[in-house]
Amino acid sequence: MKSFLGAFGHVALDHIVRVRRLPRPNTSIEILDRSRYFGGTAGNLARSAARLGVKTSLASFVGADFPPDYRAALVADGVDLTDLRAVPGARTPTAWIFSDPRGNQMAIIDQGPMREVARLPVLRHSVKDVDLVHLGTGRPRYYLRIAKLAEDLGRTIAFDPSQEIHYVYTAHLFRELIRRSTYFFGNEAEIARARRFVRVTSTAGLVKFASVVVATMGARGSTVYTREGRIRIPRVPPTRVVDVTGAGDAYRAGFYAGLSRGYDVRRCGILGSAVASCVVESTGTQTNLPTWTKALGRARRHTSF
Ligand SMILES: Nc1ncnc2c1ncn2[C@@H]1O[C@H](COP(=O)(O)OP(=O)(O)OP(=O)(O)O)[C@@H](O)[C@H]1O
Ligand SMILES: [Mg+2]
Repeated sequence: MKSFLGAFGHVALDHIVRVRRLPRPNTSIEILDRSRYFGGTAGNLARSAARLGVKTSLASFVGADFPPDYRAALVADGVDLTDLRAVPGARTPTAWIFSDPRGNQMAIIDQGPMREVARLPVLRHSVKDVDLVHLGTGRPRYYLRIAKLAEDLGRTIAFDPSQEIHYVYTAHLFRELIRRSTYFFGNEAEIARARRFVRVTSTAGLVKFASVVVATMGARGSTVYTREGRIRIPRVPPTRVVDVTGAGDAYRAGFYAGLSRGYDVRRCGILGSAVASCVVESTGTQTNLPTWTKALGRARRHTSF
């Protein structure tokens, strides 16, 4: 089966534990409540894109313990799971996130098989049978192998290292990936790091490496840089803001939904903002994913779409 999008990155479980205050070492504290959410950058992106009608193949490594309800949710939205590999003896990537009422957070992350991804097989289906290969969180050396295959096959590459740009990339590996990419995504801190890696002083300078650079700025919206210039994209107002995690992945899903339907990058940015505005309205990154009709409606109602 052919897809528009091949989404590489984490598929993870997020355990969100609320406590009255974060405990100090050698002390204990009772929880207020806890809940489990489906997450991981590629899991979020794939499910959100598929919900928007983008044919999507998910490429990632989980454990033999991967929960059936997460798998069923991905299947229900139509995600192709050929390349979602359960590694025997490994455990699904998991994050335990502790938060207090003042907004302080502590997180503990088990990367599971994604830590060793350099030794794992190249997931070819999500490169060979797609138009656009999205490289999200995960190990740079593994993604360089994926990018070289994608390049050989003439596939478009989108590069989105997210927060991992700050701690798993070297300037060398970063350059090797961005120069093979057509699209680069990042929030303000990630874009600043990208500029340092390739030694350019302005964000516009990044378009020498990837011809479309999308810089997101939280509630202030986003900017799309191309070789023709810069396009400011306003945010789409949510009905309320409950939890902003996952806004970034949602934005990318909306952007790709636009690309897959042939919209220009300005409209793709607006669609990204519209999808993100839905996701911030509830807790969890996959809780309030819009359909294409809903996303398009929001984009049209609030902006010059
Ligand atoms: N409070 C908000 N209100 C409306 N839109 C928002 C809000 N926060 C984020 N967005 C939308 O989501 C997009 C991406 O958000 P942001 O720049 O915070 O990404 P991020 O830092 O990668 O977030 P994360 O990694 O937590 O998903 C923004 O460009 C904006 O369109
Ligand atoms: Mg992000």
